[in-house]
Amino acid sequence: MPLWTGRFKKSLDKKTNDFNSSISFDCRMAKQDIKGSVAHATMLGKQNIIDKSESDKIVASLGEIAADLESGALSIDMTAEDIHTFVEGELTKRIGDSGKRLHTARSRNDQVALDLRLYLLDECDKLTEAITNFVKVIVAKARENYDAVMPGYTHLQRAQPITFGHHLMAYAAMLMRDLDRIADCKKRMAVSPLGSGALAGTTYPLDREYVAELLGLHGVSTNSLDGVSDRDYALELMSALSIIMVHLSRFAEEIIMWCSWEFKFIELDDAFSTGSSIMPQKKNPDIAELVRGKSGRVFGDLLTLLTAMKGIPLAYNKDMQEDKEAVFDAVDTVLICVETFAPMLETATVLRDNMRNAAAKGFINATDCADYLVYKGLPFRDAYKATGQLVALCIDMGLTLESLPLEEYKKVCDLFEEDVFEAIDLDVCVKKRTVKGGPSPECVLNEIEALEKLLF
Ligand code: ARG
Repeated sequence: MPLWTGRFKKSLDKKTNDFNSSISFDCRMAKQDIKGSVAHATMLGKQNIIDKSESDKIVASLGEIAADLESGALSIDMTAEDIHTFVEGELTKRIGDSGKRLHTARSRNDQVALDLRLYLLDECDKLTEAITNFVKVIVAKARENYDAVMPGYTHLQRAQPITFGHHLMAYAAMLMRDLDRIADCKKRMAVSPLGSGALAGTTYPLDREYVAELLGLHGVSTNSLDGVSDRDYALELMSALSIIMVHLSRFAEEIIMWCSWEFKFIELDDAFSTGSSIMPQKKNPDIAELVRGKSGRVFGDLLTLLTAMKGIPLAYNKDMQEDKEAVFDAVDTVLICVETFAPMLETATVLRDNMRNAAAKGFINATDCADYLVYKGLPFRDAYKATGQLVALCIDMGLTLESLPLEEYKKVCDLFEEDVFEAIDLDVCVKKRTVKGGPSPECVLNEIEALEKLLF
């Protein structure tokens, strides 16, 4: 039975009933719905809006319902219109008329707004834990490889020398911002809309702050229309989740490239790779590809809710029921991606020699060669041009800057001396990049230690 019988002479058309119902997806908010109702009923009793004895009965029975759902003694009736209808119906089944008093001074509009906030706050904690764990894995991998020289790229062309540890720590930095964004979302999420009623508050003497306090929320919404129709907290979280997926997708793309025979910078563990049904030699990075692919789902989820919200007049409209599947899917997707990515990275073998060989072949010390001339007094632009000529010469002669004879250097610029070979040595080039945030092993270790202090 829906909660809104009385005015209606007919029950809802069967297919329309399914179309209207949200229990198939909002059933996952059962715990939060009960928690919100316990706080509301406690406040109704304290304010003498209902008898204290009835409030106590409601609270006790809601506790039993929660326990029975948890143990499996009670299962959710999937024919109910939504989770709010189910919980109230079950309560009334158990304690009779007292159960019918629970919804005093409340509407499903402020109830659902609260439930979603409470549910997403719990999910934010799971996301924070999973991402923190992922950052720990990255930091540990970076520590093992803080001095593993590899080529850094721009335009996917070998550019300047870095270390694998430095490269990994870039992702740690991104994920730390992601954690910060989630923490920031929580600030605006942890506000109670209860008391907004259907849209216009109520005439009962509610203690809204007390309800918020019981729920561990730090405040109450300031306007009843906004209280029921605000979904910014879900949009903000999905924006943060979309940015996380951008990060994961870029990382996944690099893993995929690094696994290719063309790069061979890493090898994934068999437990995180898949084979081909026809090509016996194949070992594919499907997991990373799925993460890259799933980013589109999360962006789509964000767009679903942005679009649902953009044209609806104040206050509650049923369009807003579309918020849940989108935000649940975004949260679930990010969680599974993070939780799979972390062990995939943790168990990957880093092929340092291959990275080092790749670094030696792409003139990635050309900037250092130009800087050598700058230290000898040449203006940078002239040093740049001279080095460019040397690179062209190397390409013609099939040599590298390291193997080009000093006479050839001198033909291009007489400032070159024997010590140029020391200046363009790859290890030296990396070691000298000691500017804060730079790739020198010393800087990378500082970066790692700073994060370790924060995380462990
Ligand atoms: N299932 C609804 C939702 O998720 C609950 C609120 C229903 N309110 C209403 N006035 N129909 O949004």
